[in-house]
Amino acid sequence: MEDTLAPYEAALDRVPGPVERAVDVGTGTGAGARVLRQRFPEAAVVGVDVAPAMLAEARRHAPEISFVEGDAARLPFEDASFDLAAHANMIPFVREAGRVLRPGGWTLFAFSSGPDTPIWVEPTTLRRELERRGFSDFAEIAAGRGIAVVARKAQQD
Ligand SMILES: C[S@@+](CC[C@H](N)C(=O)[O-])C[C@H]1O[C@@H](n2cnc3c(N)ncnc32)[C@H](O)[C@@H]1O
Repeated sequence: MEDTLAPYEAALDRVPGPVERAVDVGTGTGAGARVLRQRFPEAAVVGVDVAPAMLAEARRHAPEISFVEGDAARLPFEDASFDLAAHANMIPFVREAGRVLRPGGWTLFAFSSGPDTPIWVEPTTLRRELERRGFSDFAEIAAGRGIAVVARKAQQD
């Protein structure tokens, strides 16, 4: 696991509210979901991961957060059901993030160690893919040893 969520936190500074429903995709032991919970205490926060052992650990750390088993390529959520889909050190499944976001919702992809992160996608590549899926309002943020990309889903499909 990565040692810092500094870029994830910095990216959240760029996300305006209101955030009523937020998901941390590829949550692992739930560190990102716990950050979301702190940032948006009124929001419903969900962490999703494909690995049951990770989820067990995540639940142990934060029993108040909903942790759900699921594949980021086929998220077990309805269309347009989240204001924010966040990813830390996770393979980007951009189409699926876009599907579960409401129009005008936000996504972020944080990589804790920049290019040295075991799962790493160049921001330009990520931005191109996000643009292809109708996202805009990009920001690329450096924080700690890492980098994050933030983008907003189109207001209308
Ligand atoms: C490098 S870890 C990052 C965990 C956490 N986000 C963090 O930064 O500490 C990647 C996580 O993604 C999960 N993962 C990998 N492929 C996935 C998929 N297709 N759907 C959901 N989770 C996935 C793994 O089980 C693992 O917990």
